[in-house]
Amino acid sequence: MAKLQKSLIQLLLSSWLCSILLQDTTTTAARILLPTNSKIRSKTEDSGGSRDNTGGFQINNGNMEFLHEESDGRRGEEGGGKSVVGRNSRPLIGILSQPSCGESATEADWTSNRSCIAASYVKFVESAGARAVPLLYNEPEETLIKKFAAINGILFPGGATSLDDNPFYQTAEKLFKMVIKANDNGDYFPLYGACLGFQLLTVIVSQNHSILGQFEAAHKPAPLLLVGDWVKNHSIFQWVPQGVVDKISKQPLAMENHHQGVSPQTWFSNGLLTDFYRVLTTTQDNNGKMYISTVESQRYPIFGVQWHPEKHAFEWGDDTIPHSVDAVQLTQGVANFLISEARKSQHKPISNDEERELMMYNYKPFYSNKDGHGTFEQEYWINL
Ligand SMILES: *[C@@H]1O[C@H](CO)[C@@H](O)[C@H](O)[C@H]1NC(C)=O
Ligand SMILES: *[C@@H]1O[C@H](CO)[C@@H](O)[C@H](O)[C@H]1NC(C)=O
Ligand SMILES: *[C@@H]1O[C@H](CO)[C@@H](O)[C@H](O)[C@H]1NC(C)=O
Repeated sequence: MAKLQKSLIQLLLSSWLCSILLQDTTTTAARILLPTNSKIRSKTEDSGGSRDNTGGFQINNGNMEFLHEESDGRRGEEGGGKSVVGRNSRPLIGILSQPSCGESATEADWTSNRSCIAASYVKFVESAGARAVPLLYNEPEETLIKKFAAINGILFPGGATSLDDNPFYQTAEKLFKMVIKANDNGDYFPLYGACLGFQLLTVIVSQNHSILGQFEAAHKPAPLLLVGDWVKNHSIFQWVPQGVVDKISKQPLAMENHHQGVSPQTWFSNGLLTDFYRVLTTTQDNNGKMYISTVESQRYPIFGVQWHPEKHAFEWGDDTIPHSVDAVQLTQGVANFLISEARKSQHKPISNDEERELMMYNYKPFYSNKDGHGTFEQEYWINL
């Protein structure tokens, strides 16, 4: 009985999970991401020597135009005997908060001054040797700019917040622009989005708030179909043990929990998405409908997963989350990859005092799944 009740509640909650409400679909035809006529170029460096990943996009009359230049897009791997000058061994990751945790935000959530970060994302970055810094969606831009100068990467978590043109979306877009600008200036800075975070990265780049379609992909791990064998040791998969990567496309190792996504048809007919991103995996929903599940930017250290690497090791409320050794190694590999990217960033706090002031350690997570009905095991609620 309790079990039934729990799954009913989960079903109710799930209809909001990682989904967005598309009320405001008519607006924002041409959202300008960058100042008119600004030109973006990125240069990335890897441990095997430096590689020019040139390319980028420019804004003309409000439209983004991409500059096409070939690059194999492979990113550096650590190790291999070559030392990297200036590798940052104290990486800090900014994690963006939402007005609610796991449920669509109410009016009261939006007007309260508090916001939420699921603890699994904090543990995810900590597990690979980084520390977390909360980036509050409702804090002033000056504060975000100050924090940006101190951190080495940004994580957009999953959740259920609307991706309409609201304060949460606007903050995410501001952060995205800061990441583009930094990389353009040779200031290597990674950005990673999971689930709703992936959807954010999709909406921001496509400049289309109604780009997402409906899918049945909640409460279920699924195989990730690699677009080619080269993906096996590429990008977020390069730190996952080869034996596990070999199983990814055959076994349901990747936790999926979303009701929205982007079909390959929509994706590949959108020039902004195809010019900005490279698709690494696709996944089928419960009805066999395909969606894009892993992407990376062609030119920037920006990565998106429609699935939930962090859940395998750190979330327990949903019985369908895989916790096998393989699934946990997938979590660890993705975390190690993200933090290895962050170690290439040289940002740092201006003082030890500032560093301590920024830390997630200033806040206490609470046991949100203590009653067995929580979407997340633990949550941080932070007042502005
Ligand atoms: C949120 O903070 C603002 C500014 O400090 C204050 O005016 C407002 O009353 C606060 N709202 C709530 C719900 O506490
Ligand atoms: C946004 O995406 C949807 C879904 O692909 C499409 O139908 C719509 O035409 C797009 N809107 C714009 C302004 O491109
Ligand atoms: C990556 O995989 C390709 C093809 O499977 C292989 O040729 C290459 O040696 C691999 N690279 C590394 C660094 O493992």
